[in-house]
Amino acid sequence: IERTLVLIKPDGVARNLSGSILARIESKGYSLAELKKVSATRELLEQHYEEHVGKPFYEPLLEFMLSGPVVVAIFEGHRVIEGFRSLAGITDPTTAAPGTIRGDFGRDWGLAVQQNLVHGSDSVDSAEREIKIWFGA
Ligand code: GTP
Ligand code: MG
Repeated sequence: IERTLVLIKPDGVARNLSGSILARIESKGYSLAELKKVSATRELLEQHYEEHVGKPFYEPLLEFMLSGPVVVAIFEGHRVIEGFRSLAGITDPTTAAPGTIRGDFGRDWGLAVQQNLVHGSDSVDSAEREIKIWFGA
């Protein structure tokens, strides 16, 4: 069964949207396999975001992700990786479609990094890699 790693980023946790976000994923029919609330470390985020090293938003992204706790979940289901990304909406929350998590709950606040509420793995390989990072082997 396909699995994906979902993060509710510090903006979503701080705004008390964790339950609403998890409910949308469950309502679409995906099953929650693991769930925890953690304060990320810099080391963990450097692994998670290794593909973005050197980009202009990399440092602001790490600082944002360190600004408060995150909720980390594994969801399961047939085609859950693309299904969750469709549910999340495009990266920019200002233009993410209404009906998506980012489109309904988020907008650009004019900060150095887009605070867009959620992360979801973008391929089977990155899902397995990210699940190891956040939950261990
Ligand atoms: P994730 O699910 O978080 O990985 O989002 P994504 O796959 O839609 O975006 P991507 O992996 O390209 O970027 C990771 C995160 O960096 C995004 O979710 C944003 O928070 C931030 N980000 C990405 N691109 C930009 C950008 O062009 N400008 C700014 N300010 N932030 C960005
Ligand atoms: Mg990404």
